[in-house]
Amino acid sequence: KILILDFGSQVTQLIARRVRDSGVFSEVFPYDVSDEFVRNYGAAGVILSGSHSSTLEGDAPRAPDAVFELGVPVLGICYGMQTMAAQLGGKVENGKVREFGYAEVRARNHTKLLDGIVDFVTDEGHGMQKVWMSHGDKVLDMPPGFVLMGDTPSCPIAAMANEEKSFYGVQWHPEVTHTVQGKVMLSRFVHEICGCKSDWNMPDYISEAVEKIRAQVGTDEVILGLSGGVDSSVAAALIHRAIGDQLTCVFVDHGLLRLNEGKMVMDMFANNLGVKVIRVDAEDQFMGHLKGVSDPEQKRKIIGREFVEVFDKESGKLVNAKWLAQGTIYPDVIESAGKGKKGQTIKSHHNVGGLPEHMKLSLLEPLRELFKDEVRKLGVALGLPHDMVYRHPFPGPGLGVRILGEVKKEYADLLRQADAIFIEELRNTPYEATVVPGFDQDSVPKNWYDATSQAFAVFLPVKSVGVMGDGRTYEYVVALRAVQTQDFMTAHWAHLPHALLGKVSNRIINEVRGINRVVYDISGKPPATIEWE
Ligand code: XMP
Repeated sequence: KILILDFGSQVTQLIARRVRDSGVFSEVFPYDVSDEFVRNYGAAGVILSGSHSSTLEGDAPRAPDAVFELGVPVLGICYGMQTMAAQLGGKVENGKVREFGYAEVRARNHTKLLDGIVDFVTDEGHGMQKVWMSHGDKVLDMPPGFVLMGDTPSCPIAAMANEEKSFYGVQWHPEVTHTVQGKVMLSRFVHEICGCKSDWNMPDYISEAVEKIRAQVGTDEVILGLSGGVDSSVAAALIHRAIGDQLTCVFVDHGLLRLNEGKMVMDMFANNLGVKVIRVDAEDQFMGHLKGVSDPEQKRKIIGREFVEVFDKESGKLVNAKWLAQGTIYPDVIESAGKGKKGQTIKSHHNVGGLPEHMKLSLLEPLRELFKDEVRKLGVALGLPHDMVYRHPFPGPGLGVRILGEVKKEYADLLRQADAIFIEELRNTPYEATVVPGFDQDSVPKNWYDATSQAFAVFLPVKSVGVMGDGRTYEYVVALRAVQTQDFMTAHWAHLPHALLGKVSNRIINEVRGINRVVYDISGKPPATIEWE
């Protein structure tokens, strides 16, 4: 396995994902782990990430010395290369200009890491790589024992190597897709230089995870809050595979779910997989508490509070339960380990499955080491339907934040219908992708649902005038929202085909009594958010 030490770059998680994509398990830890941790971890190789810091600052973050004493290969990326240079006796200088974006690197000498990795050859016959750079500082002098591995006109030491020790540094970011051969280089590092085998795959992972869950819980009973979302669904399927009827799922229907969602969850889990699921129909309770409340944060608090209450009450009946299972995934783990450097809370995100304080349950989190795409692959390997596992994210407060202002059952019913029409048409409309040669064909979206990251309808409780047949109408408005994003922190509105929008609008106005106007949201994030509340 590969140990990745994180110096705080925004793309560190991508390094782990690329390495895992190549079939090798890897984990991210903060750069300031102890020497002892590094020695005991059992890494076949270490990767040092990028950072916003400068090695020239007084308290610049350093890699634990043990990294360079382990006798395993080390790859420094961007800041990781700079700290490698500084810590091993080289020199880093403050760049006068920041270099950001596309660059062309010329490979120098013949190194195991870069030899033969070429995007194009210049007229003079030099092998070149197209890479993505983002740095201010750069290496001025290489440490003793290193040779030049690559350069660019503005960065004379863009890559360096000490092949005797298998220490490598690259100034660019191989983990981002803009670096065309980045994947190839990382795969070469972990397989050929570190000697790792491709043994990280989901079918094998299932048996390992099943054994681990059995060993952990023994004959105890386990409760899981099932929301119908990807993470809790996959966790439920995995735990059920491991311990069968020792698992009981509690599914709270707060009346703010999508059309037929409750039925689908019950069909899938209770009927198909034979999982014990308690469905709690709490629509009246939620609607009652939401009556007269129009402030979005207030609504979130109420939904969160009631959810815990209902869940608490139901699980309190399962007197033998010793474990609370949650679908926590790896990015959540890394994020909460990130020493509070998170920005200001824009919205208080409520997720299903809060642990009630007084219940003395231990936490079971079988997805803790998986990235989202791995959770999805695991779900498919466990037999969950593709469409469920590749569903867009859905917020914990559900339609509660997609009905502007006060939530009413009448509004929720209209919204559910409109939303279902929109999603159905997105799924049915083929996506004409420009297929980039060499790109993974499987990841090319087939329809507009897959080509968007999140899409939904929003209910606006305002009435506008319309005309239908001979009559004047005075009815509500629905807004359609569809975005494309990598990380949900920033997002573009999706350029849906006009014909698709037209069809959705027609169908909603004709089929949903009470809606006579449909609009499309063309705001990016920032400044708008993805949800309307
Ligand atoms: P925004 O609206 O902040 O959304 O751009 C970013 C992502 O977060 C989801 N979201 C939520 N998820 N509880 C959740 O579990 C919430 O209260 C909540 N608010 C927003 C949103 O759907 C999008 O994926």
